[in-house]
Amino acid sequence: ATKTQAISTMTNTEENVGNLKKQLAKLFEVSLRETVPTEPDIEPLVAACTAKFGDYQCNNAMSLWAKIKGKNTEFKGPPAVGQAIMKNLPLSEMIENCSVAGPGFVNVVLSKTWLAEKIQKMLIDGIDTWAPKLAVKRAVVDFSSPNIAKEMHVGHLRSTIIGDTLARMLEYSKVDVLRRNHVGDWGTQFGMLIEFLFEKFPNFEDVNESAIGDLQAFYKASKQRFDADSEFKERAQRAVVRLQGGDPKYRQAWMQICDISRKEFDKVYQRLGVQLEEKGESFYNPHIPGIIEALSNRGLVEESEGARVIFIEGFNIPLIVVKSDGGYNYASTDLTALWYRLNEEKAEWIIYVTDVGQQQHFDMVFKAAKRAGWLPTDDSTFPKASHVGFGLVLGDDGKRFRTRATEVVRLVDLLDEAKTRSKAALVERGKADEWTEEELERTAEAIGYGAVKYADLKNNRLTNYTFNYDQMLSDKGNTAVYLLYAHARICSIIRKSGKDIEELKKTGKLILSHPDERALGLHLLQFAETVEEACTNLLPNVLCEYLYNLSEYFTKFYSNCQVVGSAEETSRLLLCEATAVVMRKCFFLLGIVPVYKI
Ligand code: ARG
Repeated sequence: ATKTQAISTMTNTEENVGNLKKQLAKLFEVSLRETVPTEPDIEPLVAACTAKFGDYQCNNAMSLWAKIKGKNTEFKGPPAVGQAIMKNLPLSEMIENCSVAGPGFVNVVLSKTWLAEKIQKMLIDGIDTWAPKLAVKRAVVDFSSPNIAKEMHVGHLRSTIIGDTLARMLEYSKVDVLRRNHVGDWGTQFGMLIEFLFEKFPNFEDVNESAIGDLQAFYKASKQRFDADSEFKERAQRAVVRLQGGDPKYRQAWMQICDISRKEFDKVYQRLGVQLEEKGESFYNPHIPGIIEALSNRGLVEESEGARVIFIEGFNIPLIVVKSDGGYNYASTDLTALWYRLNEEKAEWIIYVTDVGQQQHFDMVFKAAKRAGWLPTDDSTFPKASHVGFGLVLGDDGKRFRTRATEVVRLVDLLDEAKTRSKAALVERGKADEWTEEELERTAEAIGYGAVKYADLKNNRLTNYTFNYDQMLSDKGNTAVYLLYAHARICSIIRKSGKDIEELKKTGKLILSHPDERALGLHLLQFAETVEEACTNLLPNVLCEYLYNLSEYFTKFYSNCQVVGSAEETSRLLLCEATAVVMRKCFFLLGIVPVYKI
């Protein structure tokens, strides 16, 4: 019940062309008003059926009975309430028949004629007509967000993959999304890096990535120097002050170091096809003093052990906003960024994608923002801030994922490895002789990168997942490879029929007669409510599960219904096409590039 409510308050109920659940809810809403006029605020509780009595069910009878029994009511119990709800349903082409089961569930069987018409209409008007409509205009998705000169690790990879999918789902729902890379580009480590740069390269202006080579190694070497030499350490600390004070030479060195990191990060984004707009921590720095002052004026900031802090109900430790040395920290930046996003960028939903380890930090920042009156205390209304946490990436040994015992994995290498392996598998299948080198490359990339993304997205993000190439690149089971092949096979059925599918969309007619056709058709039409659920609850795995089930429904249909050469060929080709269209949209939303032949 809570889930249904959460979704309906977040979305615009005006039109929901593709959303079966919402369209039924509207009908039940009319019926509920009619059935119990004394309770005009009852929300219809509509869900997909779990048993085989129907396609959807309305679950209001029991709770409604609890409300009205004892009052002056004509009803004798929940089943009678259910009967009345059913009787009062307005006539609709959507519904084939209804029944009441058990303690008052109203089961609905949808009309297969209506279902078929809806699918055909989507084929003509395009799948964008099935996009959810959310009640927010602009959102910030803060994701990826690696730290300059430190390693970009698998946690950042998860953030990049999950954040990109969430951004895609929101964009599909016509939300204006600000894809923010909140890069860690401002911290005390820069003093040390800059001094080390000056020392190593007296002509530092000419230094580029090829001279420095690996920035991580550079970081390590400078850290060693920092720890070993107190004179260097002092110089590094003075360098931070000069950098933050705006000394041009120090600013320039800082920018050079950032640039080199940026080029490394971009290689990863380019392989993954992910767009991000960088607004790093440094961007918010000039705004911090004003924000701290505003918070102080509201009486939120207190002195504690030399630092300035905000106490938050339910937490033993306060949120430190000014360190005892007067410097700002991660929290001061995040508070300021939140303020900026709400007030300057006018975002209504601000979504942060990081590992679950940072949950407490965001909890505290959001609570502070509520105390400050920036955000409403009620989480079901906008504007709103959400932390999207995720678990660890594990190796086969069940420990944090690494290539060698101590080294961290370079993300570029990790992605390249997936591609290399998928290319080898294609060559094994004889594709090197069949395809051009370009086709081979393109397909290997789509499958390799797709496999990495899907392996991450298919699990509930809060759970840890095990990184295993053999598993993710297997063509059996719930993998991207299996799904991409399934899509390619559908495309090949259509190609081999020799029919012009664009022509069929207009002149042919889609009919759902066989039970397996109907089951597939119904699942296709559940795309809209699934994306909406995945998007509003920030759970990409919901969409993955839908996609996997779609391929299962298709397999069942295809093994029991002859397509090419049958009397139902036209209709069945249209059903194949609709499946391919929906699959492609799922791939798109998951950031996976589809494959058309295999
Ligand atoms: N740079 C941080 C890290 O690597 C992630 C930043 C997440 N975003 C934010 N607004 N705090 O852990």
